[in-house]
Amino acid sequence: MPGIVIVGAQWGDEGKGKITDLLAERADAIVRFQGGNNAGHTIVRDGQTWKLHLMPSGILHPGKLCVIGNGVVIDPKVLTDELDELRRRRVDTSGLRISANAHLIMPYHMMLDHAGEAKLGKLQIGTTRRGIGPCYADKAARLGIRVQDLLDEKILKKKIVAALEPKWHSLRPFARDPRLDLQAMTDDYLTYGHRLERYITDTSRLVLDKLDEDALVVFEGAQGALLDIDHGTYPFVTSSNPVAGAACIGAGVGPKDIDEVWGVTKAYGTRVGSGPFPTELEGELADLMRERGGEYGTTTGRPRRVGWLDLVALHYAARINSLTALAVTKLDVLSGLDQISVCTRYRGAEGAEFDYFPYHQSVLHHAVGEYVEMPGWSEDLSECRSESDLPAAAREYLAFVADFVGVPIALIGIGPSRDEIIWTEASRGMAGAAPVVS
Ligand code: GDP
Ligand code: IMO
Ligand code: MG
Repeated sequence: MPGIVIVGAQWGDEGKGKITDLLAERADAIVRFQGGNNAGHTIVRDGQTWKLHLMPSGILHPGKLCVIGNGVVIDPKVLTDELDELRRRRVDTSGLRISANAHLIMPYHMMLDHAGEAKLGKLQIGTTRRGIGPCYADKAARLGIRVQDLLDEKILKKKIVAALEPKWHSLRPFARDPRLDLQAMTDDYLTYGHRLERYITDTSRLVLDKLDEDALVVFEGAQGALLDIDHGTYPFVTSSNPVAGAACIGAGVGPKDIDEVWGVTKAYGTRVGSGPFPTELEGELADLMRERGGEYGTTTGRPRRVGWLDLVALHYAARINSLTALAVTKLDVLSGLDQISVCTRYRGAEGAEFDYFPYHQSVLHHAVGEYVEMPGWSEDLSECRSESDLPAAAREYLAFVADFVGVPIALIGIGPSRDEIIWTEASRGMAGAAPVVS
């Protein structure tokens, strides 16, 4: 103990990478527990930018235990490329450990992801096309290939044959694709196995041992609550559970090993891909916020949809995650707006009002935000290092958010860089907080 889970409290890209990197400074282990390389976690430090897809965002802290847990789906090509790139940039990757039970993204998963989206046409989900959904589907169908299978040619081949068997119909357009050749695929994956072998282990035990030592363990979520396959805006979701409860399953620890849950939210809202977004903005203001916030996908480069902060959704995220703290990022992006709107309820198609996140898809698809208007501020925030440095209007905005959601704000992001952060008074005494320097 203690274990701290960091989750996205919106539709992903909230700044989880930056927050994880910050907490990793004092942590002994950093554990990814779900998702795959659909994630793109950015860390900016010392003028350098790091975009991580599979590697836990603690990897820049030399020698720390960095775990890819059993709940993650791993594309071994992406992982080995990421390792090469980190080594090229002289990062010590010796702390990496990979769960032998994590599932592997295979070439056919990516093909099926592409084909599935193409078939949906206008109704497409807008996936990252990284094969995430088909890989989790195979896991549930018990046709998955796991990391441990990379170490045994006979098992690997047998499992690939079994996994491919029910897919040939859907894979017909790719029938001649050399990536589907059984021997070539087996050889490629055995090669990845050789490269990754030294990192493969029983990661659950490693993490439990750390918790027994009273070490600080940070569980790093990917995506966000509203993309959760059970609790998000289904079917416009990812294929895993980005909520905090999944940290236990995806890392192999128990619910009592979690002490704090920090939800990361932007000071406004964004979403990549299709699906309901009740506070979405269009036109000049959306363009302005997109440009100022650099709102282009870390993984796919797609422009992100932009909107006001949705407190109905954030309140929901706080409840399904048991959030104990909020980290509000990108407050700086709102500087210069005369007025800031914040959504406190939805109005449905027939004028019905919703204070709670509606469970019903038809309601949600027609819901539009109703807003409280708050005064904006014009000051540049990048030099602020304590709450008292912030303009009064910014403090008022944050107080409104914390009060509405019922969760204290521990961290405030005022720029992309690692040092552009404010630790709040409320963070004192939290396990994840920085020690007070007096
Ligand atoms: P993640 O997927 O949750 O880790 O988030 P991403 O890395 O995909 O997207 C967040 C983006 O916002 C990245 O480009 C970060 O460098 C940037 N960022 C994080 N915190 C702040 C902040 O407080 N202010 C600004 N302007 N940018 C931030
Ligand atoms: P991080 O960890 C934002 C979105 C995709 C699509 C939907 C399903 O960086 O916050 P998938 O490829 O998972 O089947 O796509 O989920 N999506 C993300 N959006 N940030 C992410 O990760 C995302 N990972 C998936 O855009 O709408
Ligand atoms: Mg991201």
